[in-house]
Order: sequence, then structure tokens, then C-alpha cells
Amino acid sequence: MIQAFIFDLDGVLVDTAKYHYLAWRRLAQSLGFDFTEEDNERLKGVSRMQSLDILLSIGNIQADEKTRHAYAEQKNQWYVEYISRMGRDEILPEADRFVREARESGLKTAIASASKNTPLILERLGIAELFDTVIDGRITSRAKPDPEVFLLAAQALGGEPTACVVFEDAAAGIQAARRAGMYCVGIGSPQQLSQADIVIRTFRGLSPRQILLQLEDIKTN
Ligand code: BG6
Ligand code: MG
Repeated sequence: MIQAFIFDLDGVLVDTAKYHYLAWRRLAQSLGFDFTEEDNERLKGVSRMQSLDILLSIGNIQADEKTRHAYAEQKNQWYVEYISRMGRDEILPEADRFVREARESGLKTAIASASKNTPLILERLGIAELFDTVIDGRITSRAKPDPEVFLLAAQALGGEPTACVVFEDAAAGIQAARRAGMYCVGIGSPQQLSQADIVIRTFRGLSPRQILLQLEDIKTN
């Protein structure tokens, strides 16, 4: 029986990808090259340092360890500037209503995100109280597609991985959920997220019960 819903944050509950993009593009331009929205797709769900390495490879730039950290720090300062201005209106459509309904139906809820800025984002959106536990990039040591973040969330909730459903927008996150032995709902396009058990476009009009029934169907077929 499903006991918990585990949510990725960026791209599932809030559209922070646009702010990551603005900050990475600003860094790229300061280094003398452009960074397109298409390039930005490659960074979804990827850790900060790995994202930087992808960006530097696009610009064909070599940098030593110290410089790489300075670049990542600069990007993060700009990113924090942008997200500090976010408000509740940037919660993705009905995502908070969906989480609330899940809790009302007796499910446990968690955030499992690579972002070290998770507390700031939850505070800006005013949704921290909707989650029993928050596992994020400040705690984890291995990035998705490693299953660590989801396994830690299940452990904190006191549930078996097989009783958890993960909600993810990134292919690396879906892989991580699978490796954790959890069910996975992809948020986005079915082509890009074909490894998920179910793919939805948005939480709009969707109830937790509908997800549970669809998973039941998959289990019995
Ligand atoms: C993930 C985002 O949730 O967090 C990535 O999808 C981001 O784009 C990663 O790089 C790390 O985030 P932060 O806020 O710690 O730089
Ligand atoms: Mg995401």
C-alpha cells in the first residue's frame, strides 16, 4: 500500500528553471559566450557543480578548482537575488492543493531536492508546513540519478521505498526513483520522461486518489 508521496521541488512545485537559466546565462555572458534555453534543458535536475561543468564545456573554457568554485558562487548569488523576489503566485498550478489533499487523505509527504536553496524557496512560497520532511542538497552527498535523496526521504518518513511515489520533472530524477525501488510520476512530456510509471502535464484538476488508482492498475496488469 502506498504510504508516502515524495516531491522534487524545482520544476515540480515551482518553476525555478527560468531563474537558474537567467543566472547561468549571466555567468556565460560574463565569460564571453552565450547560453541558450536549449542548453539549459541539460541542467535540469543536475547538481550545481555538474551544471557548471556542462556550462564551461559549452563555452570551451578550462578552469581550476578554485575558479570553478568562484564561478558557482557567483551564479548562486545571482540566482538567490532572483528567487528572493518570488512569491506564492509562482507555485505551479494547484501543486499546493494536490499536496494538501494527499496529506488530508493520510499520506506522508516529503521534499527531495538537489537544491541547497530549498529552505529559501519553501519560505518564499509559504509551503514548508505541507511536508513531513525535507531532504535537500545540503544533506545529500550524491546527485541524482543516484537514489540517495529518495532513500533518505523514505527513511525519514519511516516507510519502505516500495510504499513511496516520487514526483519528478527530470530524467535523472526518474532514474533515481527507479533505482530507489519507488513508483514514479513524471511531470512534463511523455517523450522525455518515458521511464516514469505515469506522466502528467500538471497537477491541475488531478487528485491524489486518481494517481493511486492508476498505479493500482499498473500493478495488477
Ligand atoms: C535542482 C535543479 O533541483 O537543483 C538544478 O533542477 C540545480 O537545476 C540543482 O542545479 C542545484 O540547485 P542549487 O539551488 O543548490 O544551485
Ligand atoms: Mg526538478
